This record gives sequence, structure tokens and C-alpha cells, in this order.
Amino acid sequence: MKEKILELQKKFNEKLNESKNTKELQELKIEYLGKKGPVSELTSMLSTLSIDEKKEVGALINNLKREISEEIDNMYNRLEMLEINQKLEKDKIDISLPASKIKVGGTHPITRITDELEELFISMGYDIVEGPEVELDLYNFEKLNLPKGHPARDAQDSFYITDEELLRTQTSPVQARVMDANVEKGPIRIICPGKTYRRDDDDATHSHQFTQMEGLVIDKDISLADLKGTLEIFAKKMFGDDREIRFRPGFFPFTEPSLEIDVSCFKCGGKGCPLCKNIGWIEILGAGMVHPNVLRNCGYDPDIYQGFAFGMGPERIAMLKYGINDIRHFYTNDMRFLNLFNRVNGGENNETK
Ligand code: DAH
Repeated sequence: MKEKILELQKKFNEKLNESKNTKELQELKIEYLGKKGPVSELTSMLSTLSIDEKKEVGALINNLKREISEEIDNMYNRLEMLEINQKLEKDKIDISLPASKIKVGGTHPITRITDELEELFISMGYDIVEGPEVELDLYNFEKLNLPKGHPARDAQDSFYITDEELLRTQTSPVQARVMDANVEKGPIRIICPGKTYRRDDDDATHSHQFTQMEGLVIDKDISLADLKGTLEIFAKKMFGDDREIRFRPGFFPFTEPSLEIDVSCFKCGGKGCPLCKNIGWIEILGAGMVHPNVLRNCGYDPDIYQGFAFGMGPERIAMLKYGINDIRHFYTNDMRFLNLFNRVNGGENNETK
């Protein structure tokens, strides 16, 4: 028995020294001290011995048990420490490394102009209304006093989807929709921003897609003076406090009279420069008094209600304000262009006022 105990101890020591990690040690502990392990086996053999032998061998077995347990625990602590240190070494974080830069985007110039316009008109009590981009011919043209075959339709070459549906060529149909939908046929004060489409060949000043912002005011006793006052506020807000506006006669089928509206050049103050082509004025939008036919087509009595309407192009405003010479820049997603309007470049302030 004594020999067996010595042999077991020797074998255990060998295995202990071969253990490479805490997992192997745990397995070793189970192997030697478990219920079916060699130590238990020795203990069960005690019953075959005499009382004196039992005492001696029993003590030896207990010793062996304690030693195995202690040595495994010691070794376990050492290996555990080693493993923790190795893990720390491997997972080391280098806090001196520079952080990767976060790219800050900016607001697209068209969105910026649209936001500015919305803010201005909301402050004057206007509501914002949007309409469908796939529009009925009825609203895009007919209700706006452009019946089928009207020559002015040619000025707005259209993308038709069916005989009666097209991609809207202007945001004016939204004014017809809002008037139509107004059950009480009462006053209206709206702006209608949105995307528009025309079958144009793209070049520096034409794009098959662009945006517009329509304005419409319907009420009793509305006159050209109201239109003038409103657009003067608009011109000063968008192009500077010293701006003046002037009216020139124009033609739009949905307004009578129709007007082209110019703003005094914000670069030269009206003296004449390349931006205003030496005229001192820059054409900025179309407007007029709502044509009686349009009022009638949408259920309003022109003897009771009048209105003014205007249509402006955020692209044109942005091009003038920021000195952009090609409308295609807005739609070709060239980062060199878009980055001019990010916050890092101070895009909020780089206007050519
Ligand atoms: N819809 C017109 C266009 O695309 C712009 C316009 C002009 C709208 C005069 C109006 C207006 O409401 O009164 O050319």
C-alpha cells in the first residue's frame, strides 16, 4: 500500500508539472480527487488492513489528499495570474492613437434655401402645403387656365406617364388643389415647395429636374400692392436689406396681370456689373393676380375673392446667392461641390452678398 501511495504521488507530481493552464489543472483535480479517482480507490482498500496498518496508511492517504489539493491550488493561483497578465498584454489599448475623424455633413444648398424661405413665409402666417410629383394634367394645366392645345403648354415640355398623368412641370398645381379642396371657399395663404420636372436638355442653366416654391394668397380685397409688399420682404430677407424690387409685365396663363419681378443687384447695388449683365437688376421670379378663370375652375367667385400668386426657383436663388455657375452641380453629387456647404467649411456663411 505504502508503495502504491508513493507511486501515486510521483505520478501526480509529474502530471502537475505538465499542466499548462487552469483548465488542465481543474481536470487533474477531478482525475485524482474525484469519487472514482485513485485516492478514493486507495481509501476503499483500507478495510482490508489491520487496525495498526489502517492507522498508518490512513494517515498517509490523508496526507496525500491534502498535498494534492494544496499543490493544485497553488499551481492554480500561479497559472491564473499568468493567464490574466497575458490577456492584459494582448488587449492593451493604445490611448495615444489619434481618433478617426468624424465627417460632419452639411445641408444641401437647395434644402438650405427652401428652409430659409419656409421660415420666412411661416413667420408671415403662411401654411406649407405639398402636392404629388406625379400629377394629373387637370391640375398641372387645365385648372390653371391651360386647356389642352393651349400654346403655352409648349413652354413646359413634359414627361407624360399616361394621357392624363405627368411628372408635374411646376408647383402651381398645388394651388389649384388647395383651392379645390377648400370647402368653405374661404381665404388661403400657402407656400408649396417641391420637385418639378421638364423635358429639357441639361446644360449650365437647364435641368430636367429642379425645384420650385409656389405662393398663393386668396382673400377679399387683395391687390398688387399686397403682392409687392410681400415680395419686398422676401427680397430683403434673401438678398440683403437694401434690396428693391421692380415689376415688369409678363405672361402666365394662370395670372392676370402677370409680372416678372426683378431685384436690384446685390453685388453692385444697381450700378451695373457682370452678375446683373450691367442692367442693375436680376430677374428673380414670376407672379401675378390669380386669373378669374383659375378662381372659377376651383370653385371661387372672382367677384368676391381675389388673390396673388408667385413662383420662385430655389436653384436660381441659390446660384445667385452662392455664386454657383452650373445648375447641374446641385444634382451630380460631386463631393468637392457639396463640401463647400458643410459646417467645417463655414458653409452657413459663405454667401456672395
Ligand atoms: N409656375 C410658373 C413657372 O413654372 C411660375 C409662376 C409664375 C408661378 C407666376 C406663379 C405665378 O404662381 O403667378 O414658370
